[in-house]
Amino acid sequence: MSWTPESWRAKPARHIPEDYPDLDHLAEVEARLRASPPLVFAGEARRLKADLAKVSRGEAFLLQGGDCAESFKEFSADNIRDTLRVMLQMAVVLTFGAAKPIVKVGRLAGQFGKPRSSPVETIDGVTLPSYRGDNINAMAFTKEARTPDPERLIQAYSQSAATLNLVRAFTQGGYADLSNVHAWMLGFVDRSPLGAQYQAVADRISEAITFMKACGVTSESVPQLAKVDVYTSHEALLLGFEQAMTRVDSTSGDWYDTSGHMLWIGHRTRHLDEAHVEFCRGIKNPLGVKCGPGMEPDELVRLLETLNPDDEAGRMTLIARFGADGVEDGLAPLVRAVQASGRSVVWSCDPMHGNTLKASTGFKTRPVDHILSEVRQFVDVITSEGAYPGGVHFEMTGQDVTECIGGAQAISEEDLSSRYHTHCDPRLNGEQALELAFLVAEKLSDMKADKAKLRAAG
Ligand code: TRP
Ligand code: MN
Repeated sequence: MSWTPESWRAKPARHIPEDYPDLDHLAEVEARLRASPPLVFAGEARRLKADLAKVSRGEAFLLQGGDCAESFKEFSADNIRDTLRVMLQMAVVLTFGAAKPIVKVGRLAGQFGKPRSSPVETIDGVTLPSYRGDNINAMAFTKEARTPDPERLIQAYSQSAATLNLVRAFTQGGYADLSNVHAWMLGFVDRSPLGAQYQAVADRISEAITFMKACGVTSESVPQLAKVDVYTSHEALLLGFEQAMTRVDSTSGDWYDTSGHMLWIGHRTRHLDEAHVEFCRGIKNPLGVKCGPGMEPDELVRLLETLNPDDEAGRMTLIARFGADGVEDGLAPLVRAVQASGRSVVWSCDPMHGNTLKASTGFKTRPVDHILSEVRQFVDVITSEGAYPGGVHFEMTGQDVTECIGGAQAISEEDLSSRYHTHCDPRLNGEQALELAFLVAEKLSDMKADKAKLRAAG
């Protein structure tokens, strides 16, 4: 069972396009990628693993979010900044509520490819390949647009590099300084019903910072006040690309996929003995596995044994995506099985993918109520099984879109058409994402209070 970066090629592979018109061109592009610099460094991936190990012990909390699918069209500095700003706002609210470090992981700088339920799409009697993400083909419904083009992999690589460069600048260069907590709001306070709630948290943080400053603690003396680590992640879907980005780390001699810090295996590709599991077992990055309806408890335990044979803490994040109606029955048996196996994992909640429905107006949407309800139930199920609800994983954007219904702004089915821009699944807008953060913060601080009560009751 020896592993190489290409051992996955001997296994059945789902959701990887095979209809490139010129396979030599694809191979030539992959060779160019192999010769290109890494996007992330092994040492950073190890640091994320150590951070996630803290989450697995209940000492920190994971916040993972970003676009469903990044696109070439929506690529701009403003978009990246806006997404990052929402992440920072959420992180502040969560750090404050949970009184724990928040591990911040973006679905960005590489989240392009999408598994589709059908390989083809038929409109008015015309059948063409489905749109699979900007790194494969284009959205327009023409034969040219839908034909996979290997050069798109290069463009996705370049866009990821530029995105990550800007993220590093924003997170290390002063923008993320906690004393900017008010500046991240930008009109949000007047516009949103949640504005006042955020303002109150921001005021208390400012007050604490002013006090600390008076005591001599500033971002000069304590750089952590001004800098954050925002790690990158995406679904390990297009294995040819991932293989090309996989390198031996000179310090440890281990293989790392340098396309992102964390990679996850999707709900549709998590089969033991198939290509995606084979590829991921050999790279040392932190891994996620989406867990949803149909996953058997012993299947999950076997996946953990295959992907994390040494039971290394921080290696595995299990991302539950059952939907508000399915989480109670679906999740508990999985948590029980993992608890019984004694293995170390991070439990995270993806309340997006199990709650997608079609609005009467034809748009694919997600009700914010269902999203919030799934998160609440997730926390309850996990804690009642004696495990730790360690994180959330969601699809959001900093843009003021109307893709999910409900929330503080009460977006209705009729409103969806006004600013519906997603290339794939409906995303939370900035306010809806922040609302989620407040809910999670409240849940986490309730948990803290319950624990304190238990301790007091002794
Ligand atoms: N560096 C700390 C952290 O990442 C504190 C911090 C600085 C912070 N800027 C932040 C936390 C912005 C949340 C948001 O937790
Ligand atoms: Mn999605």
